[in-house]
Amino acid sequence: MSFLIQTKEFSKHYKGDIIKNLLVFETLDSTNSTAKSLAREGAEDGTIVIAQTQTHGRGRFDRLWVSPEGGIYISVIIRPKVAAENVPLLSFVAALSVAKTIESFGVHVRVKWPNDVRVNRKKIAGILLESEIMEGSVEYVIIGIGINVNVDITKLPLDIQVKSTSIHVEKATSIDYYEFLTALLHQFEHFYALFRKERYKRIIDEWKKNTDTLGHSVRIQTSTETISGLAFDVDPSGFLLLKTPQGDIKKIFSGDCLYFDELHHA
Ligand code: BTN
Repeated sequence: MSFLIQTKEFSKHYKGDIIKNLLVFETLDSTNSTAKSLAREGAEDGTIVIAQTQTHGRGRFDRLWVSPEGGIYISVIIRPKVAAENVPLLSFVAALSVAKTIESFGVHVRVKWPNDVRVNRKKIAGILLESEIMEGSVEYVIIGIGINVNVDITKLPLDIQVKSTSIHVEKATSIDYYEFLTALLHQFEHFYALFRKERYKRIIDEWKKNTDTLGHSVRIQTSTETISGLAFDVDPSGFLLLKTPQGDIKKIFSGDCLYFDELHHA
């Protein structure tokens, strides 16, 4: 049965409180780009765009997310009624949903600030958050998630291959796509429900239990500067707190985070 038919069938039977509508495609440029167009046209909160493959999957910092068959490529459209300052915490909601799902399949993962999900320092999933905020009010947020479930890692370009893994590689067996998708959507519903109830501290505490960033010496590349220091905490909005070698405390809103002890591999 084709992916389109099978996934549409799956979506008819999926039961959840938050996810209302799954829009399924064989292939798209990018599920995030399609979700963004749909959100601008008024797509309702809880709409999900899902594709079997992407031709121009987008990563953070305009990187390409190579998206062959076997991966999960989804974008969730949400319209949270929260202050804009709470939006970054949705990175943690997404990272935790992905991390807990992968762990439920027996693979131990760690989250790297803000939302990379890795196994033994190799990336297994990526998250791209895009939002539209007008006059301080949140119009929509797109949470894009890519997970190397059954991806044949050798199909990825060599430079990405060496830094990536998949559940298939880690478990040496294929995972049922729909079983995995069900688990992921349930985990997302769980963590997003906490967010909607404004249980931000609970989300942060859970993220702290699952990250290996805190305690690491890091180098952060922001859009304007490079900052190095010891990552020692996150603030209530999920911003990273760094202590620089000069003893200053820096709050980082967003950026590319590299661990010093991995820099020679970067
Ligand atoms: C990253 O780690 O750089 C983020 C990668 C995010 C990839 C996902 S795949 C589904 C969704 N659609 C996209 O174009 N990107 C995200």
